[in-house]
Amino acid sequence: MLAPIDLRSDTLSAITPQMRRVMADAEVGDDLYGGDPTTQRLERRCAELLGKEAALFTASGTLSNQLAIRVHTDRGSEVITDAKYHINFFESAATADLCGVVLNPVDSPDGILTPRLLDAAVDRKRRARLTSAPSLVWVENTVNYFGGSVISVTDLADLRAASLAKGLPTHMDGARLPNASVATGTTLAEYAATVDTVAVSFAKALGAPFGSVLAGPAELIERASVYRLWYGGGLHQSGFMAAAALYALEHNIDRLAEDHAHARLLRELLVENPAFTAPEPETNMVIADISGTGLTSAAFVSAAAEAGVKVARWTDTQVRIVARLGVDEAVVRDAVRRLHQVADRQPSLAGKP
Ligand SMILES: Cc1ncc(COP(=O)(O)O)c(C=O)c1O
Repeated sequence: MLAPIDLRSDTLSAITPQMRRVMADAEVGDDLYGGDPTTQRLERRCAELLGKEAALFTASGTLSNQLAIRVHTDRGSEVITDAKYHINFFESAATADLCGVVLNPVDSPDGILTPRLLDAAVDRKRRARLTSAPSLVWVENTVNYFGGSVISVTDLADLRAASLAKGLPTHMDGARLPNASVATGTTLAEYAATVDTVAVSFAKALGAPFGSVLAGPAELIERASVYRLWYGGGLHQSGFMAAAALYALEHNIDRLAEDHAHARLLRELLVENPAFTAPEPETNMVIADISGTGLTSAAFVSAAAEAGVKVARWTDTQVRIVARLGVDEAVVRDAVRRLHQVADRQPSLAGKP
């Protein structure tokens, strides 16, 4: 039996012995009884890194995003976003239920929400007292659906100007913003300056087991901390979690360049077999079209798992393959070899009608 290689997500990043040690040794208090020193240190560090007045540690990316919606919007209003973002795919129920707002998603070709698309989203509904009013503009960076593609700070600044002209604040779901930063050399603060609030995850490519941060103006973050309590997200001795996040910020940002190089190598090797096509990844994810194998993506995922490689089903013809902490070059080569075997085992498509 081959050792399985799990390349479905960067949430499976290896938790290193050093990270486990700093968690075990963390200085803790009670975040809800006078404060937890490690959590406070993390929040100050995040505010500094992101160039915002304040930051709030939360248990998950979803919670940070939902708190952002809660503090920016009124019930019955609408959030303008892209149909391919996480908020639309995976958080629409939470958004409707927790915050009572609706999404107005546009369909961009590349995950870049432009001023033109923003105008179209606002204009396509008749705006009257009866209808919902736009209250927030939402971007995601990197864009998960498009394999961790990066939205440039110039595009974000253009969107920011257009949003402000309409009196709308902007939130960035920056679950993988550190990947964008390492890929482009744009700092986290430069990206964050193009939005009012930003959420960054520690439990994706940064390699912590859990946690996220929401950063923004002090008054909004103070209100978010109240809603965090309402939603049951108040944490007591959270320093054990915050220590992992602090370690990740210090040790696991620069190394993302390795993941990006591994993703590029993985794609380069994969497409040597003509059954696969994939665009060059901008960060840590390869979105591979597997239709040349003759399999659906669901069947390919099962066949790959049997061959010892777990990949994620993406669309009917695509799978997502993610480079992450714990996956080195040898693992990449081994994984691609096994995926090629899956393709080579299928009857040739040549001659099929
Ligand atoms: C872009 C993006 N935003 C938010 C989230 C939610 O993060 P979490 O799983 O920590 O709730 C994810 C999770 O994969 C994501 O990919």
